[in-house]
Parts: sequence; structure tokens; C-alpha cells
Amino acid sequence: MQTLFSLICVLLFFTAGNVCYLSISPTGPVSVEALAGTNVTLGVSHAGVSRPEVMWFMGDRLIARWTVGDGSLSGVALDVLKSEQDGSLTFRNVSLSYNGTYTVEMTQIGEAKVSATFDLFVYDIIKNASLLTDSDDAVEGEAKFTLFYSTMRGEAKEVRWLFNGLQVKNASHYSIAGKKLTINQPRRSDAGRYTVLLTNPFSNETLHRNITVLYGPDKPVLKVSPTKAVFVSGESLFLSCQAEGEPAPSTSWFFNGESIAPSGSGTVHLTNLKTSQSGVYTCVMVNTRTQATLQRNLTVIIYEAPSGGPACSVQAVNGALLQFLCLWPGGAPEAQLSFPGLSHNASGYGNYSITISDTQRLHGQEIICKAEHPLNQTQCSVIPRAPVGFLPVILTSMSEDERTTVVIHCSAEATPEALVRWIKNGDRLQTGSKYQISANTTQLFIHDFNATSSDLDTYTCTAINPLGNTTADTTLLGPQISNSSVFLSDDQAEVTVAWHVPLTSVITGFDIQMKGPELSSPSQPKRNIMTDFHTIRLMPASARNTTVSGIDPESTYYFRIIPKAGRTAGEPSEQRRIGPAAGLSGASIAAVAAGIPCAVLLLLVLLGFIYCGTRADRSPRYPVSRAVEKVVVCRSTLKPQNLLRGRLKPPPEYRLQQPERSGPLPSVNPCVRMATRV
Ligand SMILES: *[C@@H]1O[C@H](CO)[C@@H](O)[C@H](O)[C@H]1NC(C)=O
Ligand SMILES: *[C@@H]1O[C@H](CO)[C@@H](O)[C@H](O)[C@H]1NC(C)=O
Ligand SMILES: *[C@@H]1O[C@H](CO)[C@@H](O)[C@H](O)[C@H]1NC(C)=O
Ligand SMILES: *[C@@H]1O[C@H](CO)[C@@H](O)[C@H](O)[C@H]1NC(C)=O
Ligand SMILES: *[C@@H]1O[C@H](CO)[C@@H](O)[C@H](O)[C@H]1NC(C)=O
Ligand SMILES: *[C@@H]1O[C@H](CO)[C@@H](O)[C@H](O)[C@H]1NC(C)=O
Ligand SMILES: *[C@@H]1O[C@H](CO)[C@@H](O)[C@H](O)[C@H]1NC(C)=O
Ligand SMILES: *[C@@H]1O[C@H](CO)[C@@H](O)[C@H](O)[C@H]1NC(C)=O
Ligand SMILES: *[C@@H]1O[C@H](CO)[C@@H](O)[C@H](O)[C@H]1NC(C)=O
Ligand SMILES: *[C@@H]1O[C@H](CO)[C@@H](O)[C@H](O)[C@H]1NC(C)=O
Ligand SMILES: *[C@@H]1O[C@H](CO)[C@@H](O)[C@H](O)[C@H]1NC(C)=O
Ligand SMILES: *[C@@H]1O[C@H](CO)[C@@H](O)[C@H](O)[C@H]1NC(C)=O
Repeated sequence: MQTLFSLICVLLFFTAGNVCYLSISPTGPVSVEALAGTNVTLGVSHAGVSRPEVMWFMGDRLIARWTVGDGSLSGVALDVLKSEQDGSLTFRNVSLSYNGTYTVEMTQIGEAKVSATFDLFVYDIIKNASLLTDSDDAVEGEAKFTLFYSTMRGEAKEVRWLFNGLQVKNASHYSIAGKKLTINQPRRSDAGRYTVLLTNPFSNETLHRNITVLYGPDKPVLKVSPTKAVFVSGESLFLSCQAEGEPAPSTSWFFNGESIAPSGSGTVHLTNLKTSQSGVYTCVMVNTRTQATLQRNLTVIIYEAPSGGPACSVQAVNGALLQFLCLWPGGAPEAQLSFPGLSHNASGYGNYSITISDTQRLHGQEIICKAEHPLNQTQCSVIPRAPVGFLPVILTSMSEDERTTVVIHCSAEATPEALVRWIKNGDRLQTGSKYQISANTTQLFIHDFNATSSDLDTYTCTAINPLGNTTADTTLLGPQISNSSVFLSDDQAEVTVAWHVPLTSVITGFDIQMKGPELSSPSQPKRNIMTDFHTIRLMPASARNTTVSGIDPESTYYFRIIPKAGRTAGEPSEQRRIGPAAGLSGASIAAVAAGIPCAVLLLLVLLGFIYCGTRADRSPRYPVSRAVEKVVVCRSTLKPQNLLRGRLKPPPEYRLQQPERSGPLPSVNPCVRMATRV
């Protein structure tokens, strides 16, 4: 070999004109990859000289030095390093610590130093590699999220990161450095499968990890179904609240700050809505992982119409003004009320009133209240009216001690209600011991009525409201009968006595008197003849007829009625006869004929006597009734009988033994017996 080199050198010397120099060259690649634990040789060969000195450096450090062909080896790590005869260096059971850059130098005295450089890459088998993250899950919007791998043994020569199978490039969104993959400002789209491929010449490892990106809640969708702007009480609705998020947000609901139980999957079901449930519903969505919270408000409007309809009325204020009222309370919202005919722009809610001073022009005009509620537009109206002509009504009652109270009612129809002024003989009557005026002024009570005194007089009532006034006079009359009649029933067994009284007559009852044979009854069939009138029946003030049974059809009967006012009895009615008139026999005709001259004489005497008697006792026992026609004050064409039938209940029995009690006044005892109507 030495000879061969020398030969080549000599040959080169002659052909090229050069001397033979020391040269060195690697026998294989200068970049050597080795698996830890194996033997690896950094091979060199040399030429030009024989037996040069070899020095191997790891970096700057001399690790071996020997002379080629000498076999002697000096340096460190003798166990690991083995010098080869050609100057190559062998690593036995090479470990990772021998990874590095090696330089070999050869020298010989008189020759220039030559060198070659090797890179030795020592790799281990990649073992127990794992892919880890710095936190459990990525969170959208945070600064970064980092994945990193680690290995128990073995390093990768090449690392590739994949996201959902596609290679990840180092750019602004991703930074790859060392064993880390950093996702800058992770987005929800970064959720997915991450893979890292670790490769070295002797092994490879593939690691996967599924990454979740937490986000939300966001993009909330609040829904009310059915979709309506306004609900009506009694209806039902669903509220739902949905938002995207990872994990799906939990939903809770609040109404006016109070938590309400959701009816499942974050919805609220409200049935039979009440107006109190109107308001702002707040849906609170929470990401249970990130605690991110989102609130949304939903306004639910529930209307309810006020119950019933609006009520219009009018009342007098200070006697001269008219206050129009429109009332429609309740509901949600409250109804808007206005009187467009009275004021164009004024209005109120639920309960509205307006006061008008110019009242006269409104008489008979329909005043409309417009009532506007979102669920119903309606109206009511009132027609103000001045009092119209009316008929006073007289009621008489008698207390247990036979004191008589007369009540005059002056109820004029008027809107608003009229106030009544009472005047007697030009004097305004006031409440006192004698007179009492009811709270609403429509009734005048005359206590201790004395039918023989000046209580019988003309009473004037004037009904006044802001629109006008009307006046009625009532002249009270003593007890009297204006007309009477009797008639037999078809079977001639009963007699009906009927009578009328003037409308303003003060009456508390009637005595029915009869003259003739006694009435028969099953227990007392025998009849005595009664030659004087005697009372057979007491009738209440309201009675206008009575039926008498048990009469003898063959006999003659006379009937009369005595009207009474308390203890005062009025003039008896005319006598009415039933049965044959008193018969005249032939003998009596003769007697009459003979007696005529005597009778004429007797008559003259009698007339004189009566004249004197009348003069002697001029004052009548009973008040003299005034003519009915004079006292009728009715301005209406209403017939009294109609009034009576229309307004009165059937009268109760009149009992003398238990006279009627009059209730405490002014309130009229409902048991008061009515007497007379005008
Ligand atoms: C490495 O070298 C040693 C001694 O030189 C030898 O005993 C061993 O078998 C070699 N190992 C391999 C894997 O060649
Ligand atoms: C190789 O070296 C390692 C330590 O680097 C040692 O544990 C092992 O026993 C060695 N193997 C042999 C065959 O010498
Ligand atoms: C091994 O050495 C090479 C240079 O020779 C270097 O680039 C590489 O980083 C080294 N590896 C280790 C694990 O030190
Ligand atoms: C490395 O992985 C092997 C199986 O792959 C397992 O048996 C061993 O326990 C792991 N070692 C460590 C330290 O995790
Ligand atoms: C990984 O190693 C296996 C053998 O363990 C080999 O079949 C496969 O081709 C290697 N893959 C890569 C990408 O090097
Ligand atoms: C990761 O996600 C894929 C589908 O994207 C699934 O097949 C796989 O089982 C998941 N792995 C883990 C550890 O969850
Ligand atoms: C929701 O309404 C409440 C009051 O009811 C208010 O305090 C809150 O700020 C509202 N929230 C939103 C998001 O409008
Ligand atoms: C409006 O209210 C009035 C009075 O309550 C009622 O009669 C009418 O039916 C209502 N109209 C509607 C449309 O509800
Ligand atoms: C006046 O009051 C009495 C009861 O005191 C009543 O019967 C009458 O109807 C009232 N009149 C009016 C017009 O309200
Ligand atoms: C009724 O009035 C008259 C005359 O005014 C009087 O004489 C009589 O005593 C009075 N009767 C009663 C019961 O007061
Ligand atoms: C009644 O009305 C007339 C006008 O119609 C008026 O002159 C008179 O003063 C009124 N009377 C009262 C008591 O108000
Ligand atoms: C008798 O008076 C009553 C009411 O008190 C009346 O209903 C009835 O018709 C009258 N009978 C006669 C025959 O007038």
C-alpha cells in the first residue's frame, strides 16, 4: 500500500511536475446518522504520506490522537472510541452525548496539516411520546392556546403538525416553535383533531388530540310564541331563549328580578296570562365552563279590557255647574276617556270628569264619552235634562198612637237629579220637629198631621237642577169620598161597595157602614134588622172596594163609607141602597092622601126648625171638603187609577186593633200603608 502510494506520487511528480503531498478524504458521507447503542464509524482515507498523525476533535475538544499504522491510541473515552488503522474513528455503543461535529486532522512533519469534518447525528427510538396542552380546552378570544409534545426517549428529526389532516403552516395564526404549536387567538373554527408526526431516521410516532374551543353564549335568539306584540289576559305563551355556545349555555329566566322556573329546555310556558305578568323577562345564559354570561330582555305586554262598559253620569256642582263623569275603571292599560263634544283635547284614564259652566245649552243633548282601550273602543252617553213636570205623590201613615204622618214626594225626572225646595204659604220649609226633608230633598214629611188644622194647605215643591226648574203645588184635602157605588153579584149573595177619593185627600183608612138586616153566617142564620148605620168593616187607606157576603136578596140594605185621617173622620159618603125600595101599600096611599095638608104644615114647621138648628151650630163637625176639581194639580194626563195600579202593591188588611206603626222618620217604613195619590 505504502509502495502503491509512493508509486502514484512518483508518477504524479513526473506527469504533473508536482511533489506528493498529504491529503485526506471521507470514505462515506460526512453527515452520519446513527442509532444510539450501535457502532458507527466516521471513515477517512489519506494519501501522499505514510503514517501521518491523526487527531480527532469533538468540536474543539481533542478526543483521540494516534499515528496511523502505529496501533497506539491516546485520548479520552477509550471504552467508546476505537481508532482504526486508516485513521477512521469508530464509536462503539454510541450514546446521544456523542452527537456533534467532529473534525479529523492529519499531519506529518514537513507536510501541511489536512482535515475533514463530520456531523454525527445520534438518534434514539422515539418512545412514550405524548401530545399535551397547556389548558384543558381552548377558549375563543383568549390570547393563545398551546399544544406540545414530549417524549420519554428519542428526539424527532422532523416534526409535522396537522389539523384535521391538513398540514399546519407557521404563520400569524399558528406559531410552531420547538415542541410547541401555539394557536394565536383561537377561534371556534380551531376546534378539531390535531396531529403531530414525529420522525427520525430510526422511528416515527403519530400523536392525536381532539381540541375543543369554548365559546359563547352568543347570537342569542329570544322568541315569544305565538309571535304577537300584545297578549290578552287569559292567553298562553312560550318564551324561548337560545344562543350558540360550547358547551351549550345553560338558560335561566327572571321576571322583575325574581327567578322563574323554566318548563324545560330553557323555555318558559305561561298559561292564563294575567296583566301582572306584563313586563320585562330576562333570559340569562351562562357558559358553565367559561362562566361567560349573556342577558337579554324580552318585553311581554298583556292587555285586559276593563270589565263591563263605561258608565256616563252627570252631577250638579254648586247648584250651577254640571260635572260630566265617565267611569270605566280597571283593565290594562286603563281606557282613555274623553268627551269630544265638550272638550276637544282633554282626556283622562279610567275615571274622567269635566265641569261645564255653560249648562243651559246642553239640555236634551246627548253627551258622548268616547272610551278607547286597545282591545275595545266603545262609548257611553248621558243626556242632561232640566226637571220635567211631575206629579207629587202623597203617602200617609199612622203610628200606633194614631199620629199621622204625611209624606209628599216630588220626584221630578231630571238629569242630574234635581234638588227640591219646599214652600208653604211663601215660607221655605226646613227640617224641624214638624217638617222633615229627606236627604235627597225629594220627600217632605209632615209629622203629627192634623186634618182639621192648617196642615191642610198648599205645599209647593220646586225641583231645580243646573239646567232649569219646575214647580208643582199640592193642596192637601181632609179625608173625603168623591164617589161611591154598590152592586150585587150575579148570584145576588154578595154586595161590592166601591168608592173613590180625591187624589190629595189625606186618608189613613175607611169605615164601611151598613144599615138593614144583619148579615147571615152559617153560625148565626137569624137576622135582626139594624135600623142605624153601624160599621161592618175597616178598610186600609189603599182599598177602593170591598165585598160583603151573607146578605138577604129580599131585603133592603144601605151602605156608606166614612173616610178617616188618623182620629179625624171625614164626611160620610152618600148612602147607597141595595134591594127593593120601601114599598107603598094602598092603605098607606090613602093615609098619605089624607095627611097631605097636615104634612105640608108639618114640613113648614120642620123647615123652620132646621133653619134655626143650622144657624145654631154653624161649624161643621167635619172639615168641609173642597171641591175636588179645585185641588187637582195634575199637569199630566196620567189617570190616577193607572198610577194606582201601576205603582202600588196589593194592600194588606187594615186592622184597627193593631194600628200601623210608622217607622222612624224620615225613612219611610216600607210597611207604611199608602193612602192617596195625586
Ligand atoms: C460493536 O463492536 C464490538 C467490539 O468492537 C463488537 O463486539 C459488537 O458486536 C459490535 N456491535 C455490533 C452491533 O456490530
Ligand atoms: C451501551 O451503553 C449504555 C450506556 O450508554 C450501556 O447502558 C449499555 O450497557 C452499553 N451496551 C453495551 C453492549 O456495552
Ligand atoms: C447533534 O449535532 C448536530 C450538529 O452536528 C446538531 O445540529 C444537533 O442539534 C445535535 N443534536 C442534539 C440532540 O444535540
Ligand atoms: C412507555 O410506554 C410503554 C408502552 O408503550 C409502557 O409500558 C411504559 O410504562 C411507558 N413508560 C413510561 C415511563 O411512561
Ligand atoms: C414509520 O415507521 C413505520 C415502521 O415502524 C414505517 O413503516 C413507516 O413508513 C414510517 N413512517 C414514516 C412517515 O416514516
Ligand atoms: C377525536 O375526534 C375524532 C373525530 O373527529 C374521533 O374519531 C376520535 O375518536 C376522537 N379522539 C378522541 C381521543 O376523542
Ligand atoms: C334588562 O332590563 C333590566 C331592567 O328590567 C335592566 O336593568 C337591564 O339593563 C336590561 N338588560 C338589557 C340587556 O337590556
Ligand atoms: C267592547 O265593550 C263592550 C262593553 O263591555 C262590549 O259590549 C263589546 O262587546 C266589546 N267589544 C269588543 C269588540 O270586545
Ligand atoms: C230619595 O231618597 C229616598 C229615600 O230616602 C228614595 O226612596 C228616593 O228614590 C230618592 N229619590 C231620588 C230621586 O233619588
Ligand atoms: C187639630 O187642630 C184643631 C184646630 O187647629 C185643634 O182644635 C185640635 O185639637 C187639633 N187636634 C189634635 C189632635 O191636635
Ligand atoms: C226657574 O227658572 C226660571 C227660568 O226658567 C228662572 O227665572 C227662575 O229664577 C228659576 N227659579 C229658581 C228657583 O231657580
Ligand atoms: C177592588 O180593588 C182591588 C184593589 O184593591 C182591585 O184589584 C179590584 O179590581 C177592585 N175590584 C173592583 C170590582 O173594582
